[in-house]
Amino acid sequence: MSTQVVVGTQWGDEGKGKIVDVLADRADMVVRFQGGDNAGHTVVVNGKKHVLHLLPSGVLRDEALCVIGPGVVCNPFVLLKEMETLKASGMSTDHIRISDRAQILMPYHCYQDELEENSASHKIGTTKRGIGPCYQDKYARTGIRYHEFKDFEHFKDRLKESVERKNKLFTDVYGAKPMDYDQLEADFAAIHDQIVPMIIESIHVVNDAIDEGKNVLFEGAQAAMLDINYGTYPYVTSSSPTAAGVTVGAGVAPSKIDQVIGVVKAYSTRVGEGPFVTELLDEQGDWLREHGFEFGATTGRPRRCGWEDLVVIKHANTINGLTDIVLTKLDVLGGLEEIKVCIGYDIDGEIIDYVPSDQMDVAKARPVYKTLPGWKEDISKCTTWEELPQAAREYVQFIQDFTGVPVSMISVGPDRINNIYLGSRLLPKED
Ligand code: GDP
Ligand code: IMO
Ligand code: MG
Repeated sequence: MSTQVVVGTQWGDEGKGKIVDVLADRADMVVRFQGGDNAGHTVVVNGKKHVLHLLPSGVLRDEALCVIGPGVVCNPFVLLKEMETLKASGMSTDHIRISDRAQILMPYHCYQDELEENSASHKIGTTKRGIGPCYQDKYARTGIRYHEFKDFEHFKDRLKESVERKNKLFTDVYGAKPMDYDQLEADFAAIHDQIVPMIIESIHVVNDAIDEGKNVLFEGAQAAMLDINYGTYPYVTSSSPTAAGVTVGAGVAPSKIDQVIGVVKAYSTRVGEGPFVTELLDEQGDWLREHGFEFGATTGRPRRCGWEDLVVIKHANTINGLTDIVLTKLDVLGGLEEIKVCIGYDIDGEIIDYVPSDQMDVAKARPVYKTLPGWKEDISKCTTWEELPQAAREYVQFIQDFTGVPVSMISVGPDRINNIYLGSRLLPKED
């Protein structure tokens, strides 16, 4: 049995999609367990870029079954569009399944997200993909799940009831236009025959695969600092993008997880609102954005950039129990005289090494930096540890020593082949 979970350790966009695609090489199954199309995962294969939002990033390996798990809020219209794009590039989409327990993310959830965001005095800066409203309905127990889509007559009743309730909210609270039920019904009728054959009872499919000793890879979207419980609340998403999220979002027991792989970007980025201790609002931040090409894959927004924050990575390790770190985008740092890493927070003169729960404290925190030497070389063609400049090796070593988690792989470029493996923990197995 080999089960691996890939999670983000910062604010998302660490390069999880690329790493999942690399690890999916030996996977029999790849499972998304939370979030929705707020995710934007970029995978580059032979120079061709694929941006995935709902589909697991293992989808480009057509030997692996790709499952959209029970914990996902899945917009079926976005899913079909994504499948069309893949088909147009000559890829197969026959290996995609949706859990019958996954929530159907509705057009009215996107509308509600937009209205809530536009009227909020403290904006979260959501992706406006309807994520928060869909999870609200799930936990209010009014959401509609995929198994309810199979019988269209039943689905129509559920849809009508929901649209009536939502329209009261839209008109009476927001003073906005109601949604047109007839149009929605027609839109769903048009996709019924495409969606229904993909719906499966996923709990047994996933657990049977694990019990048969197959390799199952769980793909986290978002990241620790966007976690609904442990992130920078309220500036977070509405799901649990941690290893624990696999147990609730895929129906897999914690005892069945072998490896928890934390993807750590070599510096920090954040999209949307909320405190960011190491944020660089100067030319150094602009330099990171330009060199790392830090623009959102889902919304196109420029990402806020800053130095590596090891207080955050330690926090991510605490809540995830990381067995391995994959360090990404190390190539981006090439050319700097020196590089800073944050090793503590100074809050009103008190130095702490953990992430406070109160966002007012996080907003006040001043980073305590350790300065490390930079390197001038382009490392994007390096394939071994020995080829890396001494300063790059010291940087990796510092992260490993500080967190106490082995760095098992370093990514030095966007393509699936731009990797340095350290030891054999993540090395592709020989056939
Ligand atoms: P995700 O949301 O965690 O999957 O990350 P995104 O795909 O949103 O953002 C990561 C970006 O960095 C994408 O454009 C990737 O193609 C790119 N990328 C991933 N790994 C590397 C790397 O090691 N070096 C460089 N230069 N780019 C990378
Ligand atoms: P991947 O999987 C970066 C951020 C949004 C916003 C907050 C809440 O590509 O790493 P939501 O739409 O989820 O209600 O927005 O979370 N956010 C992400 N930031 N990467 C992501 O996904 C994100 N998904 C959501 O910008 O601040
Ligand atoms: Mg992303």
